[in-house]
Amino acid sequence: MIDLVFAHPYPKRSRANRILLNAVRDISNLDVRSLYDIYPDFGIDVESEQAALLSAKLVVWQHPLYWYTAPGLMKHWFDKVLARGWAYGEGGSALHGKLCQWVVTTGGDQEAYSATGMHAFNFESFVPVMRQTAEFCGMKWLEPIVVHNAHRVSDKELHAVGRDYRKKLISLATEAQELVVHG
Ligand SMILES: Cc1cc2nc3c(=O)[nH]c(=O)nc-3n(C[C@H](O)[C@H](O)[C@H](O)COP(=O)(O)O)c2cc1C
Repeated sequence: MIDLVFAHPYPKRSRANRILLNAVRDISNLDVRSLYDIYPDFGIDVESEQAALLSAKLVVWQHPLYWYTAPGLMKHWFDKVLARGWAYGEGGSALHGKLCQWVVTTGGDQEAYSATGMHAFNFESFVPVMRQTAEFCGMKWLEPIVVHNAHRVSDKELHAVGRDYRKKLISLATEAQELVVHG
């Protein structure tokens, strides 16, 4: 029901993403696919990834922001798994109507993501690449969950975001289940 694609090159060294992932990983019918654990050599099993997506109504992409986008293995996952004729193009309707939840942590704070800040642009300027990847494949883009300043934000604040993240996934999964049952 929920396919959570998680991309962190060093999952054991992560603080922010680890707390967020731990807040949701035991939700029933949620499958965590920790890409760097499953595919340390980048040899993605496209069939397994596509099967996990097909069985889900809600797809979550969770990762730290790396060079304004997803870490390399997640980008590779897009390139291999979101194939023409499957995810887009003629006959490519496998993901149509699924929900897509983006969960991202950033090193920069709000001030850094401004015209005068270190990253020179608002954070919203960096969202369209992920959003359009989902929408190009016919998925419904949900309001992203963004944690800025991930190195400095306290464990307490991360746990609070984790609780909201968990509530949101459970509520979306419940809605999706009701649609399946009642049509
Ligand atoms: C290779 C690399 C690239 C990064 N690029 C960015 C970036 O473009 N923007 C940003 O705000 N933070 C960037 N960061 C900081 C990470 O987003 C930050 O370390 C991460 O969100 C912390 O989460 P974690 O505790 O789960 O590792 C980068 C970090 C690394 C190692």
